Amino acid sequence: MGITIKTPAEQDAMRAAGRAAASVLEHLQSFVKPGVTTGAINDHAHQYVSEVLGCIPAPLGYGGTADRPPFPKSLCTSVNHVVCHGIPSDKPLKKGDIVNVDVTVIKDGFHGDTSFMFMVGEPGVLAKRLVNTAREAMWAGIRVVRPGARLGDIGHAVQQVIERAGYSVVRDYCGHGIGRVFHEDPQILHYGKPGTGMELQEGMTFTIEPMVNAGRFETRLLPDGWTVVTKDHSLSAQWEHTVLVTKDGVEVLTLRSDETP
Ligand code: MF3
Ligand code: CO
Ligand code: CO
Repeated sequence: MGITIKTPAEQDAMRAAGRAAASVLEHLQSFVKPGVTTGAINDHAHQYVSEVLGCIPAPLGYGGTADRPPFPKSLCTSVNHVVCHGIPSDKPLKKGDIVNVDVTVIKDGFHGDTSFMFMVGEPGVLAKRLVNTAREAMWAGIRVVRPGARLGDIGHAVQQVIERAGYSVVRDYCGHGIGRVFHEDPQILHYGKPGTGMELQEGMTFTIEPMVNAGRFETRLLPDGWTVVTKDHSLSAQWEHTVLVTKDGVEVLTLRSDETP
């Protein structure tokens, strides 16, 4: 579907959806620790989203096609070499794991989409550096956003942070427009050339969600139809925010209380 420019009322609805999604990650902060299963994280978040927030967990039942079943859980948990779309399971997290928890909620018909890297126990220096680089890359992309900037400017800024650190940018998955629809146009690539691509306009809402591999950028899809892993089994990290293009810059709709822009 095409690009949607959000009216002021729709922007308010996106703010509320973004705040709701961010609050789920805040709620999970003390819950994620060694020994907890990703399935328990899912169940804990599902209960919070539906019963406390009164929202719908967007991943649950999403995206079924001829080639894959609908997503079976309420959020994605991507551990270590899983790039994205990991399915919560009964496997416990162990010390040293890094896990991306990706939350999308629907509030009053609008989506908020955001993810966070949890470091379980005390991860190694390499894992920490990868996680921090992925976060810096996301913020470098966010800082570029304003009316008149181009999609290639975002991609370039993200890519530079990642490649200067010696890591690679996943090409097979990208950010996306978001609103009443979970994945709208435009696609937000996390690599690119400055001054190329569509111009940003006030009222656009989209995600920036770079996936960063410690090794090569190629990915492989597991037979479950969802789980994406690094082809070379290297570690992968990702952070995601939903942003709004404002009159003179950017507003991060999924900002958490532990973050400063
Ligand atoms: N939240 C993911 C994103 O950032 C999409 C997950 S789709 C699912 O776009 F079906 F796997 F949940
Ligand atoms: Co997204
Ligand atoms: Co997401």
